[in-house]
Amino acid sequence: MPAVSTIQSGEPARLPRHVAIVMDGNGRWAQSRGRPRTFGHKAGVGSVRAVVESCVSHGIEVLTLFAFSSENWQRPQTEVSILMNLFLASLRHEVKRLHEHRVRLRIIGGRDALAPKLREQIATSEAQTKDNTGLQLCIATNYGGRWDIVEAARRLARDVAAGTLDPEAIDQASLEAGLSLADLPSPDLFIRTGGESRISNFLLWQLAYSELYFTDTLWPDFDAAAFDEALAWFAGRQRRFGQTPAQAQRLAGA
Ligand code: IPE
Ligand code: IPE
Ligand code: MG
Repeated sequence: MPAVSTIQSGEPARLPRHVAIVMDGNGRWAQSRGRPRTFGHKAGVGSVRAVVESCVSHGIEVLTLFAFSSENWQRPQTEVSILMNLFLASLRHEVKRLHEHRVRLRIIGGRDALAPKLREQIATSEAQTKDNTGLQLCIATNYGGRWDIVEAARRLARDVAAGTLDPEAIDQASLEAGLSLADLPSPDLFIRTGGESRISNFLLWQLAYSELYFTDTLWPDFDAAAFDEALAWFAGRQRRFGQTPAQAQRLAGA
């Protein structure tokens, strides 16, 4: 496995600006050890730490992590509440260190369904780190890609109803402006651990041209080396955005 920085000899490595990850496989990781699923969620926090540190040291601009989907509420109540408590505790414990590393924290997804204590901690953590110019760490909680698009559509509909927007003027840019992460570059690299090859209602619009990387590694086993492997795979991709390979090569060289 070559180091990321030496993949294309003589050329600087091509790093993604934005990495988006579906952290999957915690339950199976725990069950294969004869432990309850929630043991896997706790172990998964270590992988979050490792990947965040790795992004900081590589100088990656944005990392978006899928922590809890709008469909995950359907899980047993005890698992949901342990996940929520784990998120609250992680925010409390990690924010100081994140701040020291100049990480800016942002939580995306519907807030209304979250417990008041969690909502308060989210607001405090975001406020504390809002001026940081290092890694932008986005955590998707009670998030769904379809929810995100509906929210953006509702914003436009409000403007139309108020008479400030002509429906004919709606275009991709104006819808996109109402989506989560609209101010950030779209994900270049999507990673899903845990062996499933699906998006599971993550960033549907934003992933339109992301490179999709699927690995069997379960999230608690995903460490800095596994992340480097994904980065190395990404560095070898040719992104064409609908153009021919020759055009894309000229674009990359430009
Ligand atoms: C991902 O791991 C964590 C969340 C979805 C919250 P899972 O809990 O989905 O683990 P598996 O896929 O059942 O192994
Ligand atoms: C996706 O994992 C959501 C998160 C990782 C937060 P799931 O385990 O919920 O996805 P499915 O149910 O296998 O599609
Ligand atoms: Mg899963």
